[in-house]
Amino acid sequence: MSGASPLWAKGRVELDAAVQRFCAADDVVLDRELLVHDVKGSIAHVNALYRAGILSVAERDALAGELVALGRDFMEGRFTLDERFEDCHSAIEARLTERLGEVGKKVHTARSRNDQVLTALRLYVRAQLERLTAACTTSCERLLTRAKASAAVPMPGWTHLQRAMPTSLGAFLAGHAEGFLDDAYAARAALDLVDACPLGTGAGFGTSVELDRDGEAAELGFVRLALNVHAAQSGRGKLDLLALQALHVATLDVRRLAWDLSLFASQEARFVRLPDAFTTGSSLMPNKRNPDVVELLRTLAPTVEGAMTEIAGVLALPSGYHRDLQATKAPLLRAFARGLAGLELVPALVDALTFDEAALRAAITPDMYATDRALELVREGVPFREAYRRAAAEMPTLSERTPEESLRARRSLGAAGNLAIERLEERLRSLKA
Ligand code: ARG
Repeated sequence: MSGASPLWAKGRVELDAAVQRFCAADDVVLDRELLVHDVKGSIAHVNALYRAGILSVAERDALAGELVALGRDFMEGRFTLDERFEDCHSAIEARLTERLGEVGKKVHTARSRNDQVLTALRLYVRAQLERLTAACTTSCERLLTRAKASAAVPMPGWTHLQRAMPTSLGAFLAGHAEGFLDDAYAARAALDLVDACPLGTGAGFGTSVELDRDGEAAELGFVRLALNVHAAQSGRGKLDLLALQALHVATLDVRRLAWDLSLFASQEARFVRLPDAFTTGSSLMPNKRNPDVVELLRTLAPTVEGAMTEIAGVLALPSGYHRDLQATKAPLLRAFARGLAGLELVPALVDALTFDEAALRAAITPDMYATDRALELVREGVPFREAYRRAAAEMPTLSERTPEESLRARRSLGAAGNLAIERLEERLRSLKA
């Protein structure tokens, strides 16, 4: 920050510029993600100050009006959050004071930057978890659509990257769909946990002004209050970790899908063609068409893991606010920005994949029917271990059967047909209900 003295300057003090810069770190830049949420929280606070008899109607209207204008100016690029300010909280008060004089100086009555940043962060995390839920739900839907269309398309199933038994492209895609559906539920569960309003908890001890906390929570769309004033402070970082855990499991599923696609798209397999829009060229080799997007999708998980490690490291603290908590902000924002940017590409990627059904079918070799054959013998009364040995001996002659027969023999859910897909769609509907 440069120029203006910080909010907490009490008189004429010489503030060391290097120390100030060190404390503010890159907050003013990071806070560009938080400013609109802080503006919303500030409007709710101003309304509560009015209900508590601290502000007149005219003062409330002036402050709320300027806050709305600031939010709009920021969104439309007329207001920049930069080094002039220590953070978004200071910027808001500075702007209100510049525009409204004495009235502007009233906005921080009975609040602390501690409950201010908590509120802005909860609103931010809530918005990210809504995006996460939507990205996982949409990925699940698109995968199910493709699964339905390919329920009867046979493909090899692998374990240890070795051919195992025939499966179907539909079952394979629905498998990824179910992963993303679980992730959407995880995001929803994390959202329930963070959906509690910390506004009005002040520096962590409440205030003597009768702030209508329930009214503030309702205005901000929270389902409940962060009740205890101490717990509200202690929740910072911990709830961020819960939110990142939901993001993390989704990025694990993205990585697995990305790996499958990398292997399937290899020129050795050629089971799928990645859409042109998701590939890049080489700066040197004119022949290359590289799967950079799916490769980078594999890096989302470690980005989130790094952020979680960093936050958990900072949280080794006693109760109450400590400036250490500021250091949880950068990893949180970085992980959500990168994680969601990648996840939100998944639906379009899934839509545009071209599977080579003939190549998938051709990769099913006769030996892959050996398990079916052993179980056929079991049904004829042969003990399994004996049947296993006989099927092994018969392997070269098993080519008589088709993958369809093999799949039909396995009636279990997910092996073939649309039954499992219909049940997944039911579960998807109850998530959305
Ligand atoms: N940038 C600070 C943070 O993120 C804002 C809160 C400052 N509070 C304080 N008591 N110094 O934690």
